This record gives sequence, C-alpha cells and structure tokens, in this order.
Amino acid sequence: MVEIRLLRPDDRRDSFASGDVELDRFFHKFAGQNQFRLHIGSTYVAIGADEIVGFVTLSATSITIDDLPEASRKRLPNYPLPALRLARLAVAQSARGQSIGKSLLRATFAIAHEMADRTGCVTVVVDAKENAIGFYEKYGFEPFEIITGRLADRPSPVPMFLPLGSIPRE
Ligand SMILES: CC(C)(COP(=O)(O)OP(=O)(O)OC[C@H]1O[C@@H](n2cnc3c(N)ncnc32)[C@H](O)[C@@H]1OP(=O)(O)O)[C@@H](O)C(=O)NCCC(=O)NCCS
Repeated sequence: MVEIRLLRPDDRRDSFASGDVELDRFFHKFAGQNQFRLHIGSTYVAIGADEIVGFVTLSATSITIDDLPEASRKRLPNYPLPALRLARLAVAQSARGQSIGKSLLRATFAIAHEMADRTGCVTVVVDAKENAIGFYEKYGFEPFEIITGRLADRPSPVPMFLPLGSIPRE
C-alpha cells in the first residue's frame, strides 16, 4: 500500500525514472519550482518503500460548455467553468502494474470533490498520451470530441474529461 502526499521541498526527485524522458525531466527540474515558488501546480507523490514511485501534478483550469459534448452540458451556464487539470502523471518503470497509477488517480478524484465543495469544479480534464488513453478510459474519462477512424488517425495527446458527477465520493 503506497502513501500519497504532497511533494515536499526536501524530497529526492532526481532518481525517479518512469521511462518517459519529458515526464522525468519535468519532475526532476520543474515540479518543485512550480509548486513552491510559482504556485502554478501542485504535485502529489506516491511513496513506496521509502522512495518516490509515482507522481501526479494538478492545477486549476477552466472550460466552457462549448468544449463539452452536447450530452454533458446539462444545465451548465455559458461562462468559464472551474475544472481540475491532471497535468502530468507517471509511475516509476520499476513499479508499474501495482495499482500506483490507480491510487494517484483516486487521490486526484478526492481533490476534485474537495475543490468542488470549496470553490467549484465541474470536471477533471487530462491531455492523454496515446499509450495512456486506455488507462483513463478504464476510469470513465471520455474524449472531448468523438474520435472516429483508426488509432493512428487520432491526434496525440487526446484531450479527455470525467464529469464530477461520474466520480464516486469515497
Ligand atoms: C499510465 C500509468 C500511469 C499507469 O500506471 P500503473 O501504476 O502501471 O497502473 P495501475 O497498476 O494503477 O493500473 C490500474 C489499472 O489500469 C490498467 N492500465 C494500466 N496502464 C494502462 C494502459 N496504458 N492502458 C490501459 N489500461 C492500463 C491496468 O491493467 C489496471 O487494470 P486492472 O485494475 O483491471 O488490473 C503508467 O503506465 C505510466 O507512468 N506510463 C508512462 C507515463 C504516462 O503515459 N503517463 C500518462 C500521461 S497522460
């Protein structure tokens, strides 16, 4: 069972390796300053056996009803709507397949509900990398636009969303 908590300034980040060069570079170089100095995104880390085995970076964003498919617009007003952006997510290559990604997603969902209660949040959004689309789909995320055609024709990353009403409160 992993512990999920906010990144701390003294956390050792440089040995984290997900195998995705961009995500690793972000975590090593930018996650700290974005959270502690610039306040543009907060990173939550998964701790297993005393080391960081995964992270998710979250930030506030907004969408409009025009972004949403007709069926998801409900009675939402036509002005910017608060949302939670799952900006980055990665699990260490050595720790894949142990439900760490799922735990980080569940922590994200809890924060979306907290945000909804405190300041408002209608949905969680993510720009899903092609290899992770199936992962997000498993938890109910849908593409903003109906995607037709072969996988190869899909834009990458694929913008996806999960309405707050579809996220169970735990
Ligand atoms: C995608 C990622 C975060 C998944 O993390 P993980 O800890 O290995 O996944 P989990 O063990 O929590 O998997 C939970 C469930 O999702 C499924 N799953 C995991 N990765 C999947 C994928 N890429 N596609 C489809 N299903 C996936 C698992 O089979 C598991 O299903 P189960 O509960 O039925 O057994 C991880 O593979 C990763 O870091 N990838 C590289 C970086 C990346 O692509 N990040 C996403 C950026 S948008």
